[in-house]
Amino acid sequence: MLNVTRSADLWQRATSVLAGGVDSPVRAGKPVGGPIMVREASGAYVVDADGRRLLDYLMAYGPLLLGHAHPALTRGLDAVAARGTLHGCTHEGEVWLAERLRGHMPSLERVRFANSGTEAVMSAIRVARGFTGREAVLRFAGNYHGHFDQALLDAGASAGAAGAGPSGIPTGVARDTIVVRYNDLDAVDAVLHLHGKRLAAIVLEPVVANMGLVHPLPGFLAGLRERASRAGALLIFDEVITGLRLGLGGAQGRYGVAPDLTALGKVLGGGYPLAAFGGRAEVMRVLAPEGTVFQGGTLSGNPFCVEMAHRLLDVLEGDAELLPRVRALAERLAQGLRQMLDAFDLRYPVVHDESIVDFMFRAADRPHRDYGEAKQANAAAYAAFYREMLAEGVLLAPSQNEVMFLSAAHAEEDVQLTLRAARLALARMRERGEV
Ligand SMILES: Cc1ncc(COP(=O)(O)O)c(C=O)c1O
Repeated sequence: MLNVTRSADLWQRATSVLAGGVDSPVRAGKPVGGPIMVREASGAYVVDADGRRLLDYLMAYGPLLLGHAHPALTRGLDAVAARGTLHGCTHEGEVWLAERLRGHMPSLERVRFANSGTEAVMSAIRVARGFTGREAVLRFAGNYHGHFDQALLDAGASAGAAGAGPSGIPTGVARDTIVVRYNDLDAVDAVLHLHGKRLAAIVLEPVVANMGLVHPLPGFLAGLRERASRAGALLIFDEVITGLRLGLGGAQGRYGVAPDLTALGKVLGGGYPLAAFGGRAEVMRVLAPEGTVFQGGTLSGNPFCVEMAHRLLDVLEGDAELLPRVRALAERLAQGLRQMLDAFDLRYPVVHDESIVDFMFRAADRPHRDYGEAKQANAAAYAAFYREMLAEGVLLAPSQNEVMFLSAAHAEEDVQLTLRAARLALARMRERGEV
């Protein structure tokens, strides 16, 4: 018998037919030494191609707030499909979904649906250019907005961790993309001083979940709001991760700062491909057919994914305790990790927000605030931790840029399992002198 596992065999096949073996670079697991091949998933667990059940904190990088294969999103799909999965015309579900979203996020005066977060942010930026008649965009290092040209330079998530560089991005695009340090209003002021008149938009994750978890410092979001308005540029919040996950009103609801445009994705579709962008009616009016900025898509707003978003909203609106329950569980995980790191005398700040938990292998008195600080984290130690956790049956994200996502399917015993696994992992790493 050949001494290869089903996962290894499948990876071999994958690399000979899929580019790099994957459809998204992060999945190759380069920073941690290899990929996970998944056979199926349910609740808080995935089963790999060798039949190993793994407690999942990757949660598909964020969409699965309800966990894998939640009945609300898998029940009666035949009946949904039987009404037609694609109409190529506007339908009632789309209209109602936009109304529901606006009910939670009043800044979404007009909405347009798309299929991925990438499309949503890319389109919002084009709208901003069309509205302002300007071309430059100000972004923040370590934020991730998808894989379109303007989003990639000095971006977080796998764009920063998978070994990719600026290849394929036109120099003209790079010239019009100004990237500064997150949480640094002085850096923003310096850019506004030099480029304010050609700035179409300031775009950011209001809470960043792509360089670990980073919160805006007090006054940062309001400061950007005020500066964007003063410069005649639009403020775009990329709430692809935070929208619905930090509460139905997203980060903007929590911080009380209304952007001109917002991008949504991930949780919105509950695991089905759905995204949206929207904002001030006056701004969205530049989109064709009312205006001259073109944006559209064959699959956009399709009734199947729109129905899934309604079902997701039904669950979230129908159970006001769901988000607080996941928050409390995540808080227990964060607190348990804090105590454990303390016991190992490791000063790694643990950051928690709603269903997101994060720590980096970076000793400090406070959590990191920007990408420069995030990059100080010890990548080799994280890779060792990832592998030890995997050996204990816990699947983490394959890079420190990513965070731990909990879901409604995670339970107290999962948190306990995770803490036991982390204790063993750190103990073994300590023995080997890795931490
Ligand atoms: C904040 C943020 N914006 C945009 C995107 C891009 O979304 P998608 O991968 O659906 O294109 C991501 C993906 O991770 C993201 O985290």
